[in-house]
Amino acid sequence: MAAIVLDDVNSDFDPFDARTRIDPYPAYARLRAAGPVLRLTKPGIWAVPRCDEVKAVFADHVNFSNAGGAGIANHFKNKPWRQPSIILEADPPLHTRTRKVLARIMSPGAMRRLEDQFKAKAATLVDGLVAKGSFDAIRELAEVFPLSVFPDALGIDFDGRENLLTYGAMVFAGFGPENDYFRNLMARAPTVLQWVTAKCQREALSPGSFGAQVYEAADTGEITQDEAPLLVRSFLSAGLDTTISGIGMALYNLARHPRQWAILAADPSLSRAAFDETLRFDSSAPYVFRTTPHETEIAGVRIGQHEKILLLLASANRDETRWERPDELDITRRVSGHLAFGTGIHGCVGQMVARLEAEAVLSALATRVASIEFTGDVAYRDSSGLRALSSMPVRVVPK
Ligand code: HEM
Repeated sequence: MAAIVLDDVNSDFDPFDARTRIDPYPAYARLRAAGPVLRLTKPGIWAVPRCDEVKAVFADHVNFSNAGGAGIANHFKNKPWRQPSIILEADPPLHTRTRKVLARIMSPGAMRRLEDQFKAKAATLVDGLVAKGSFDAIRELAEVFPLSVFPDALGIDFDGRENLLTYGAMVFAGFGPENDYFRNLMARAPTVLQWVTAKCQREALSPGSFGAQVYEAADTGEITQDEAPLLVRSFLSAGLDTTISGIGMALYNLARHPRQWAILAADPSLSRAAFDETLRFDSSAPYVFRTTPHETEIAGVRIGQHEKILLLLASANRDETRWERPDELDITRRVSGHLAFGTGIHGCVGQMVARLEAEAVLSALATRVASIEFTGDVAYRDSSGLRALSSMPVRVVPK
């Protein structure tokens, strides 16, 4: 197919503009209608809005590299603010080696060992909140739960855990163009990064934990000793803020669709499917980047060397050619195959942990709560990398 000239594919949509945050979906629909790949003139990047092309790019790591950086910063052209991730920001063969270690640690057996613990903690937390009646579903639930269970699994002690919230926020705030939110967080970088680096060392991690197992892989020579703390850091960068925002957006979307909450309350065993459907409907990691190592093309459109390409996962998850009634939240639909966790060689290695956490929270709530009512306005975070709320005041009506 002949390459389309650039002027035909320009769009002034800015995915990082705070004004598009509340409801980006009409804009995504326009992008899908406009073409398979668009040049977003304001940030100066390419965007892929449809499901088929997003999948095609995910399947082609030779033409669409991760080593160019997970965010808008172009590692092929500029030095990054932190040492790049040796899994998410790596291509094969480095990626193959590091991914193997994390995939083994996150095995189905490991998930089964965590399940009872997660469920018990969620039940205690939710019991307290239901007794209170009114609370902030983000600050008192979506942030508290992952912060209480995930660092335990990773092997980190309690001292200074609040640094993890700042670190996670920093990683994802650095995804888009620099803004005040990112600059304010980065003012705390020296202290937070020092704390994170210390917690990723072998002596800081409890025996048998995910973190300790990364060092065991270094002892057998699967990865180097220098790579071990960086791989432990990947758990912290990718494993906490993602689940906080995913659980937060799940609670928000289920609360604003009372009929869906009623279905879940009637059958809490739907909690895992409900979480996946909320991720499809309103993906908390709405997009990821790829960078071209050399000139290539997408659906016949020529893309130059070292270009950043934004894969609009949240748009692909609403693609009308892939999903029936894509704009409806329906927790009973067959939701497998959504792209909220990515797919292909970089597809989320922690998705089973994320599901386990979300399922524990949603089923604890659905077992006890007949309905959720908003008692004030929700607030969105300014993060450019995650779709996340910072506050959601609610009252719950017990069953
Ligand atoms: C709702 C929660 C989560 C969402 C929405 C999410 C989303 C994603 C997405 C979209 C990717 C693909 C990135 C790409 O292709 O560029 C990814 C990769 C990754 N995720 Fe998650 N994630 C979540 C939870 C977690 C958790 C709990 C962990 C750790 C336990 C984790 C660890 C990772 C890692 C290490 C990668 C990189 C994998 C690779 O490059 O091979 N994620 N995640």
